[in-house]
Amino acid sequence: MARRKYVVGNWKMNGLTEALGEAGAIFAAARGHAAVDVALCPPFTLIGAMAALPEGGTVGGQDCHVQASGAFTGSVSAPMLADAGARLVIVGHSERREGYGESDGDVKAKAEAALAAGLSVILCVGEPRKVRESGDAIDYVLAQVRQSLPDGFDRSRLAIAYEPIWAIGTGLVPTIEDVAAMHGSIRAALTERIGAGAADLRLLYGGSVNGENAAELLGAGDVDGALVGGASLTAAKFLPIVEAAA
Ligand code: G3P
Repeated sequence: MARRKYVVGNWKMNGLTEALGEAGAIFAAARGHAAVDVALCPPFTLIGAMAALPEGGTVGGQDCHVQASGAFTGSVSAPMLADAGARLVIVGHSERREGYGESDGDVKAKAEAALAAGLSVILCVGEPRKVRESGDAIDYVLAQVRQSLPDGFDRSRLAIAYEPIWAIGTGLVPTIEDVAAMHGSIRAALTERIGAGAADLRLLYGGSVNGENAAELLGAGDVDGALVGGASLTAAKFLPIVEAAA
């Protein structure tokens, strides 16, 4: 099965109602690139409105709780995301792992809750700068992959995003060789775990992707798409990345 390119915008904690115009412009233009899957993950508050845009587009959440409902003030569950119109959710982003102390076990439980709710999942992994400098990045990330991976999953509904923490929002990116080596290693670890079907899973790169570097990054071995932060907030910055994937 050939892997379709996948370009996903993570709006993080950005976006008020007025930003829906950018999402509409992105969705409208994305329709012209039938070979690329495009999705936007806005804050919870915009999911319903973005999913209802007349331009039509795939919308996702940025996190979910492991439970479907209950006394968890401030949290949003995977069935709630689906109910609001989301089709996917990001789990294990480093800003959740680091800022909210989420462990690999937590990330795995969230991925399983999301899959059970019928959502697709983008599971994030990535090493901090010190680990990259020590030369242990591949071991570190493979441990995250092995321990965060849900038990039993539909290959078409899981993607892994490699986001080196030191590359997020910094303008720094790893060398293409390093990206290809990491993605190849992740693919090999997935093959060990689930066999030849691992060839169907999409592996995204994230961290300072922009219109200038997207073509090169997307051309690296085993890179099937991009998870984009800052450059996904406007159509002017995001669409060149979609075009580079087409
Ligand atoms: O999830 C996407 C992200 O962490 C990368 O952010 O702003 O470096 O593209 P940015």
